Amino acid sequence: MGSSATLPPMAKRNDSIRALLDALDDPSLVVERQVVQTANAPARELLGEGIEGRDLRLAIRHPRALEFALAGEAGEIELTGIGELGRPWRLSVRPIGDGTLLLRLVDRSRVHAAEKLRVDFVANASHELRTPLTAVLGYAESLEDGDLEPELVSRFASTISGEAKRMLRIIEDLMSLSRIEADRFVAPADDISLGAILRSSVENIRATAEQCGCDVQLDVQDGLPQVQGDFPQLVQMIDNLLSNAVRYGCVAPECKIRASAQADGHWVRIDVSDTGPGIPRDHLPFITRRFYRVDEARSRDSGGTGLGLAIVKHAVERHRGSLSIDSKIGEGTIVTVRLPVAG
Ligand SMILES: Nc1ncnc2c1ncn2[C@@H]1O[C@H](COP(=O)(O)OP(=O)(O)O)[C@@H](O)[C@H]1O
Ligand SMILES: [Mg+2]
Repeated sequence: MGSSATLPPMAKRNDSIRALLDALDDPSLVVERQVVQTANAPARELLGEGIEGRDLRLAIRHPRALEFALAGEAGEIELTGIGELGRPWRLSVRPIGDGTLLLRLVDRSRVHAAEKLRVDFVANASHELRTPLTAVLGYAESLEDGDLEPELVSRFASTISGEAKRMLRIIEDLMSLSRIEADRFVAPADDISLGAILRSSVENIRATAEQCGCDVQLDVQDGLPQVQGDFPQLVQMIDNLLSNAVRYGCVAPECKIRASAQADGHWVRIDVSDTGPGIPRDHLPFITRRFYRVDEARSRDSGGTGLGLAIVKHAVERHRGSLSIDSKIGEGTIVTVRLPVAG
């Protein structure tokens, strides 16, 4: 075995098998009586250019995969150890008649990455909630023990209420995030005036910003077109952008926050900028991940949950819009959201 002399004479059938395999993106092989008859380009790239006409045992040097394939039964197994180190594959075996098998290797990296993301998310959320809960329990136990100065009692009580509020904020943000995700494939249907939302959100933060000497400017274009949207989600999106601008931008003396909304072709474009310290370049790609913070203490002390930009990102995606975050250290940050004009 192992030479081209073993190829069957049915040239026509082989041609159509080759055309079929070439149409598949996954590494795929047709194996007849343990010999690789045809392999598509991804299979040859993965297992070696010369595998056609070779014994399967030489083409796939993976004992479990071989044992499974040579059994000749229809089925699937998950495995690693073929090609790149650690890459997960699903090997699918399908008998297609006359002792011939179709073998397909489906790359499972993306599925595994998504699963890891989910597991990490549950672990992170639990950790974020456990920290304030541990503080609540500790202070509550001290209060139970009694015999405390009234001043300490009131300090402990206010710590308990602060930590409980933090847990509530985390839970509310988690619920918002999961609501937006659940609606991912549902087109938002309300006619929304983004200018009105921006105006009311700016009024909500103005006092806090001006308290720390920050000038807030709002610029909404006249006759701004409406967008089709989900009102509570868009309010949350804009609130989160403005609260970040205040929370992280209001530091330098003479800091400025600017919010604007204008038509931009088929889009309504919203910009929220601040002249704060900016976000280091190497953090930027991760900033919209859940619970990702540049400065954890600063986020926590100012009431952040680490979920604000994740909510923004998901809300923008649900509205089929785009999000970009530009930042320069020492100069500031500008976040731009574009949402499609209502058609
Ligand atoms: N305008 C900004 N200027 C500087 N850093 C920012 C700004 N917006 C967000 N960040 C950084 O991104 C992190 C994630 O933001 P976000 O998801 O809203 O969470 P948080 O609840 O911490 O505000 C923040 O912790 C902060 O480090
Ligand atoms: Mg935030």
